[in-house]
Amino acid sequence: MKHLMSPLDMSVEELDKLMAIANDIEANPAKYAHACDGKILATCFYEPSTRTRLSFESAMMRLGGQVLGFASADSSSASKGESVSDTIRVISCYADICAMRHPKEGAPMVAMTKSRIPIINAGDGGHQHPTQTLTDLLTIKSLKGRLDNITIGLCGDLKFGRTVHSLISALIRYENVKFVFISPDELRIPDYIREDVLIKNNIEFKEVVKLDDVMPDLDLLYMTRVQRERFFNEEDYIRLKDFYILTKEKMELAKDDMLVLHPLPRVNEISIEVDNDPRAAYFKQAQYGVYIRMALILTLLELV
Ligand code: CP
Repeated sequence: MKHLMSPLDMSVEELDKLMAIANDIEANPAKYAHACDGKILATCFYEPSTRTRLSFESAMMRLGGQVLGFASADSSSASKGESVSDTIRVISCYADICAMRHPKEGAPMVAMTKSRIPIINAGDGGHQHPTQTLTDLLTIKSLKGRLDNITIGLCGDLKFGRTVHSLISALIRYENVKFVFISPDELRIPDYIREDVLIKNNIEFKEVVKLDDVMPDLDLLYMTRVQRERFFNEEDYIRLKDFYILTKEKMELAKDDMLVLHPLPRVNEISIEVDNDPRAAYFKQAQYGVYIRMALILTLLELV
């Protein structure tokens, strides 16, 4: 049985196949409308979500399947002290596949060891968010036409932003991808990403504080929100939350075909005036999230 804990659980060839299925779903949705008839997806979300949970549910419904689950720990028996291990043993009796989000790093991995159904990590603490990465890869491939030969700037909370950690791990497998990390000192990428992922694999990267200086070099700008829920004190969050705000004026420094991505939710880091810029791709990115999750459900259930 297959699960998805990290984007590295899939080879580059498997990712290519997954993205090809997603593109086919986009082009021919009717072909897949009954692909999951009789199947049930459980969404077990111990942490808030709009996109990930609802796009998984939309994906399963668009495949003809059904969904059940909970949207917060408070509305499940976790609030009475039930462990993730026991919960997943029970969910395995009710559903065919499960997407799980949890504030604790590694919780979906624990579930995987006790599960009789495929488990998808829908975000675990500040660690990984592999289905956001699949979404990001599909967005870049579809809109840019390639995943290699790109310079990508990742801007904002690079310390706690799990989408950033997953995306870096996935992109180093493509040729000539250069990274520019743009963050305040306190929110730089974690040491394990710098040492074990980038330096160990001879990946070209630089770390800067000022966004304006590097804007002209970028093919992609991946903005992130400062992750309030992972800060130890509110003062630090308030000091750092508006460190970067992407405005129309800053967009004038960028290439004509630079794309702006953001996993969303956005707080203040992209001014709403940027939404009308043709290079703003973050809402399209959310749409690609449905196609790739449809492709993932089909793949893990071995229906393609
Ligand atoms: N991108 C993302 O994970 O959004 P949600 O937290 O709304 O699921």
